[in-house]
Amino acid sequence: MVTTGKIELHRGLSGVYLDRTESCFIDGAEGKLLYRGYNIHDLAEKSTFEEVMHLLLYKKLPNRKELAAFDAQLKADRAVPAEVLDIVDKVKKAHPMDVLRTAVSALAAFDPETTDNSIEATIRKGLRLTSQAPTIVAAHDRIRKGLKPIPPSRTLNHAGNFLHMLFGRNPTPEEAHIMDVDFILHAEHGANASAFAARVTASTVSDLHSAIVTGIGTLKGPAHGGAAEEVMKMAEEISTPEKAAEWARKRLDGGGRVMGFGHRVYKAEDPRAQHLRDRSKVLGEQKGEPQWFQLLANLQEVMKPYQRRGIFVNVDFYAGSVYYLMGVPEDIFVSIFALGRIPGWTLNVVEQFERNMLIRPLMEYTGPMDVPYVPLAQRP
Ligand code: CMC
Repeated sequence: MVTTGKIELHRGLSGVYLDRTESCFIDGAEGKLLYRGYNIHDLAEKSTFEEVMHLLLYKKLPNRKELAAFDAQLKADRAVPAEVLDIVDKVKKAHPMDVLRTAVSALAAFDPETTDNSIEATIRKGLRLTSQAPTIVAAHDRIRKGLKPIPPSRTLNHAGNFLHMLFGRNPTPEEAHIMDVDFILHAEHGANASAFAARVTASTVSDLHSAIVTGIGTLKGPAHGGAAEEVMKMAEEISTPEKAAEWARKRLDGGGRVMGFGHRVYKAEDPRAQHLRDRSKVLGEQKGEPQWFQLLANLQEVMKPYQRRGIFVNVDFYAGSVYYLMGVPEDIFVSIFALGRIPGWTLNVVEQFERNMLIRPLMEYTGPMDVPYVPLAQRP
């Protein structure tokens, strides 16, 4: 915080509480994350993305009957209109996040409840978008490769269906499980930049599709969701585990950052990271490519002194290697984050609508005052 005269400046809104929430608790000093009171470790180890979506949006873990009805609706909503796939085809050369943002924007023209901002309709739309978005991401990857999109499965779970549409084959149970865990870990994270941006849009009493488009655009940056892609690019540039330490020292000495480290809130290890670290190791051994895990582990070792400054590994550090080992194209990594986060963005929009107040901070003006106007003809 900087104080100039009577003004307290909180650059980047660092340390500022925007509102109250019952959905996500983060203890940055301890490295603790709860969704509606449930520890992320329990949810990642024992739950499914479908259950977590229900927990976040309907405020309780579903019983069997509730889960069956919820799951049936999600499966029924997976298709996207042919017109939207045509748009995907037209913009197929763009980055997958640009394509997803454009397609979600186009879906607003087809959703029967786009302009209904009631809480019930907003939740229904958020779940529909959660179901439709994997279809868009997978269809885009196939269309740009000259392949026909695979229609959504009516039987596979949410994570398995995404991989099925992306790979054109049924995923192994382990692949589907890893994707499921990944979606759980990314589902919600308080007032992160993209959820905050979605809230700003909702606070003007705009609609959910607009807010999700805002969220996608904000998530794309390398300081937020784009980090997993950057981590894998970095790993490929380093190329072998033995070169990791020297590469990192050079990077840090030159004032650069090592992607996948640091977090605005966590000043301890990001609790989500361990689940992907374990899977990166196992998957690397299974696929005969253990060098990526070793390279990342070596980087983590070099970064140890930075822990004193609160810079620890974050969720994106091992995520990239997990996706890469599963055969997911690198430029889709951040889209996977988006697929997991749609319920979280929806939740933030719902909370914003429940007690709405326009989000409109102030800027301290430091420019000149009362400058005499010079007509165009007289300007030098
Ligand atoms: N490597 C080296 N130094 C770092 C790093 C890093 N990854 N992150 C922060 N620092 C240093 C930074 O150089 C600065 O040093 P100094 O005070 O000497 O100038 C200090 O730490 C504070 O940096 P900051 O950017 O002011 O801190 P922040 O809390 O605003 O940064 C962050 C958070 C995520 C933007 C930053 O840590 C970063 O750029 N990390 C790399 C990108 C990344 O992994 N992003 C994914 C975040 S987790 C997924 C998500 O939730 O989106």
